[in-house]
Amino acid sequence: MTTQPLKHALELPRIKVPPHPHWPPLGDAEKAALKQRIKTLLDEQNAVLVAHYYVDGDLQALAEETGGCIADSLEMARYGTTTDADTLVVCGVRFMGETAKILNPEKRVLMPDLDATCSLDEGCPADLFSDFCDAHPDRTVVVYANTSAAVKARADWMVTSGIALPIVRHLHERGEMIIWAPDKHLGRYIQQQTGADVLLWEGSCVVHEEFKGFALQRLKRLHPEAAVLVHPESPEDVLQQADVVGSTTALIRAVTALPNQEFIVATDDGIFWKMHQLAPDKKLISAPTAGAGATCESCAHCPWMAKNSLHNLEQVLISGANAITVDPDIRAKAVTSIQRMLDFAAEHNISGALPGS
Ligand code: 13P
Ligand code: SF4
Repeated sequence: MTTQPLKHALELPRIKVPPHPHWPPLGDAEKAALKQRIKTLLDEQNAVLVAHYYVDGDLQALAEETGGCIADSLEMARYGTTTDADTLVVCGVRFMGETAKILNPEKRVLMPDLDATCSLDEGCPADLFSDFCDAHPDRTVVVYANTSAAVKARADWMVTSGIALPIVRHLHERGEMIIWAPDKHLGRYIQQQTGADVLLWEGSCVVHEEFKGFALQRLKRLHPEAAVLVHPESPEDVLQQADVVGSTTALIRAVTALPNQEFIVATDDGIFWKMHQLAPDKKLISAPTAGAGATCESCAHCPWMAKNSLHNLEQVLISGANAITVDPDIRAKAVTSIQRMLDFAAEHNISGALPGS
């Protein structure tokens, strides 16, 4: 099976990574009062929180306390279609809010901060991507969830990390050649696992790209009993050392399912909130990044996910600002690629939810 060259001729935009926001610290009483005010607003507006594991632990706790959802991007997308809430408040990044709106056009979808984007989304502009697809008309276009609505509208399939492998395997078995965008590390991993003929877009996640294989080797020597859990947006030399490669939900499942007492985790450290909750006695160690002296990108915490807080969540519920809108023509096309994934998940019993959630 030929592996297609990674590089292509397009000039991609430089990603501007924002500094992490500094939210005012809250005392216990202040935090409890703020959470209570948000709960009242959610009730009054028949609104529900749909949160990703990478956002602040206080938001994850609140989503849980109010009967909302904390999940990976696959389950976040599915969950929105099952709730009878009138408003989905998506605590995560922009593509998650857009996916919710595309699937639920009749619902109001709010986000605490509309500038919470993603380096993968930013690195795959719809016009350049469309030209790239036009140059390879014989290929099925598979895009990662971490893309704009317009890129999804150009795709045949949207996938998340929790379902990419079985979908690409299915397409490969049907004899289809694939364009994969935007994450080159996840795309290469999928290509290697399935043997499919995959042409890769040159995108990456600024957070996962910082995990370092050489430093992980050293850390493993210090913790020989630890299982290594890796999100597939990480570089190849990190993936090669993994005991488990998977979506955020798959990595959390591994912490509860494996007998190990120690885990080295190569993904955004927001995930530790749920891991600690489900396995309080296990030791979780963040996989090494470029470390001291490196930039804010090296802190294993997504600067865009960090834009979500209790503070701006309350504000958005008061003001009703930050409603997600999607152009109707784009929505009509994008919904096909997303719904294909949800139908495939239902047919093959693939879920991004944790047991009991
Ligand atoms: P999951 O779909 O695994 O939750 O990942 C989303 C993401 O943005 C990872 O960086
Ligand atoms: Fe995007 Fe990476 Fe942030 Fe996930 S962690 S939202 S892929 S920038």
